[in-house]
Amino acid sequence: MLYDVIVVGSGIAGLFSALYAKKSGATVAILTKSNPFRSNSAVASGGINAVINLSEYDSILHHINDTIDGSDGLTNRKNIEDMCHEAPEIIKELAKMGVNFDADEEGNIMQRPFGGTKATRTCYIADKTGSAIVQALLLECRNQGIHILSNHQLLSIAKYKERLSGVTLLRRRDSQVIALGCKALVLAGGGYAGIFRGHSTNAQESSGDIIAAALRANMKLSNMEFVQFHPTTLKSNGALVTEAARAEGAYIVDEKGVRFTDEMQTRDKLSRDITTHMLLGHHIFLDFRHLPQEVIEKKLPSTQKMALNSAGIDIMSELLEITPSAHYTIGGIWTRGDTSTEIPGIFACGECAVTGVHGANRLGGNSLLEGMHFGRLAGAEAGKYVKRRDFLPIDYADINKELRRIDLIIDGESHFNINAMRKNLGNALFKNAGVFRDESSLVDVYEYVEYLIEKEYGLHCVSKDRENNVELSSILEFKNALYISEAMILSALKREESRGVHYRNDFPQKNDKRFFTPSYVSLLDANLFYITFENIVFDTFWHKIKKFLTSIKG
Ligand code: FUM
Repeated sequence: MLYDVIVVGSGIAGLFSALYAKKSGATVAILTKSNPFRSNSAVASGGINAVINLSEYDSILHHINDTIDGSDGLTNRKNIEDMCHEAPEIIKELAKMGVNFDADEEGNIMQRPFGGTKATRTCYIADKTGSAIVQALLLECRNQGIHILSNHQLLSIAKYKERLSGVTLLRRRDSQVIALGCKALVLAGGGYAGIFRGHSTNAQESSGDIIAAALRANMKLSNMEFVQFHPTTLKSNGALVTEAARAEGAYIVDEKGVRFTDEMQTRDKLSRDITTHMLLGHHIFLDFRHLPQEVIEKKLPSTQKMALNSAGIDIMSELLEITPSAHYTIGGIWTRGDTSTEIPGIFACGECAVTGVHGANRLGGNSLLEGMHFGRLAGAEAGKYVKRRDFLPIDYADINKELRRIDLIIDGESHFNINAMRKNLGNALFKNAGVFRDESSLVDVYEYVEYLIEKEYGLHCVSKDRENNVELSSILEFKNALYISEAMILSALKREESRGVHYRNDFPQKNDKRFFTPSYVSLLDANLFYITFENIVFDTFWHKIKKFLTSIKG
């Protein structure tokens, strides 16, 4: 099967890019591993930032400045400016598609304050903003005749003479390997916070599959060490308790009822405050009890339901125990301002891409916005790109390699329990590469990941059934999770400073002199990562010139 544009991922960035590619006349398919409502976009409940009323309190410049101030450096100002300027237009476009933002009696869209901002700027639909937007976009994609191939897992990016020719996929229904040809590919498959299994707001399938496939295709990754921990997630299972709770007035308290922190500071600082208090032996709670019933019913109905169903807590009368958990990954596939990557025809957007709009710490409400802005751009760019191109053949050797890999995983004798391994990885990452890290904890978890990589070859399906074999998908995800863990830990080890969400106990200060630069990960060979920083590469280069000059002088 051939499509002009294939989009991998069915979150907001993927859906928007598919719509914009289609608008330009391209044939488009969206590939999605599972249910679009399990995507991080659907989980992001609290809202989307946009300046929709210019006033003495707010302006687009304020949105730009808040984003930069909250980032702790490493931002791409031009990309932030473009995104913040587009935000009001995006809200209008969503409203036209039938997204009913909460509005006052006169029909004016209401907004709530989110952490780290100086104005009330987050548009919302109660506490289910992401899923309401995903629903509207999915409907629009169907109306526009975009093919949605669900239950298809990306295996690899197919190249012909080093140029994009398509993708290989696992069709989960029958565990068949299939290949699809395309002229352009949009990677929009989310981040990797799910690798912190048991300590993440993400579904476990958010294991960085797309980012791992990009790395294997020799694409450069950036800023992998920056993992955002959401300050308020259920203590029992890491499920998100939306920032909307604090925006609507819930307090953070300890077991004595003491409010020990500023609830509306940026997520990096708040997660550190909460973790520090927990390390002193305290239990931490969200307190909704002073809020009027009407606020809970109108603004936080899903939170109320979730607390009751998942923790057995009635938030109207009881405290809800919380803890920080891995929520959003800032690192991913390196992109240019127009979403293009190092490989012509491949574009990336959303959480799997690094656009520089979050720097080292993301503001709540800016991820949905980023997904939409860069999703639109990626779709339009891909649509433009395919007009000048022909399809290239898919190398049969690529398909064969994947076929053999899948057969081996299914047919081999199982020695290990995949669920236990995924859980152990999540626990080890959270303990050693979590809110606080240092060299010794990072080395410990690196060695543990290496140990798991050795064992990985003994991972096979217990059930040999090829129909909807969830174990097969889980093993493939785990292999990617290990790959991504290595890239993340090595980047965290090399960044010997604290900045944004990356806090090193052994280097507690920011070091602009050495590290005012993104980090990059590339592959030297199949399993050898190469970590660089812009200025450090330059140092090496300069060192080489100096050496050369000395050699010709002497
Ligand atoms: O807390 C939340 O609702 C999450 C929003 C976000 O990550 O942007």
